[in-house]
Amino acid sequence: MKKITILDIMKMKGEGKKIPALTAYDYPTARILDEAGIPLILVGDSAGMVVAGCPNTLSVTMDEMMYHTRAVARGNKNALIVADMPFLAYQISVEDAKRNAGFLVRAGAEAIKLEGGLNRADTIKAIVDMDIPVMGHIGLTPQSIHRMGGYRVQGREKKQQKKLLGDAKAVEKAGAFSIVLEGIPADLAEEITETIAIPTIGIGAGPRCDGQVLVIHDILGLYDNVQPRFVKRYVDLKKSISSAVNEYADDVRQGRFPGKGHSF
Ligand code: KIV
Repeated sequence: MKKITILDIMKMKGEGKKIPALTAYDYPTARILDEAGIPLILVGDSAGMVVAGCPNTLSVTMDEMMYHTRAVARGNKNALIVADMPFLAYQISVEDAKRNAGFLVRAGAEAIKLEGGLNRADTIKAIVDMDIPVMGHIGLTPQSIHRMGGYRVQGREKKQQKKLLGDAKAVEKAGAFSIVLEGIPADLAEEITETIAIPTIGIGAGPRCDGQVLVIHDILGLYDNVQPRFVKRYVDLKKSISSAVNEYADDVRQGRFPGKGHSF
């Protein structure tokens, strides 16, 4: 398998090849995704929720994102690693944003992702100008949870749709190599996908995006605090882990473990 770069991801759109992306936050998961041939691994700030148990992503820090990014980079050989810029890493000043993007690259990211459209165009351009590829993220942007009044589908009304299309164009113009479309109607995602030249990666944005991304804990059944409609669960690992843990505890209680083969 060959190392995937942003050029490969961009080419996939032109070739009509769908882009399957997943999040990872640690070494073993990154290894599994990479060995499965997943071309793009996102070190998402969703780590704050699915790994650390926070109610939203707002408390995630740069230190935490660097820690997760380093772990993922150690487990990865070929996938493109994109790391999320957490809340407060890029909203205060463009200087902050440039420095923090650089720290994520030092930790092993090959591109960074940040939330926002036209309002973040200058920030995206400044980071791209320092040769760090940027992935945009518009629609339902979890770091704006308080403005949105919760995790709500965005772009249901005409005015909002026009704004989101303008945001997508601004992100592309600022130099982003791709863009996440989260929580928007499928028709709007299709229109954006057909309008801009960079790949759109959808999450809760219907089937006509150039790629799809999901949170790994959601598809594996490891995070059941919420069950968004757009998630497809492929396995119930919580159940499997729970039964393994119970079996182990039972073995210890009954004196079946350790056996002869596990003892010196
Ligand atoms: O943090 C994250 O996992 C994300 C994806 C859901 C797009 O931003």
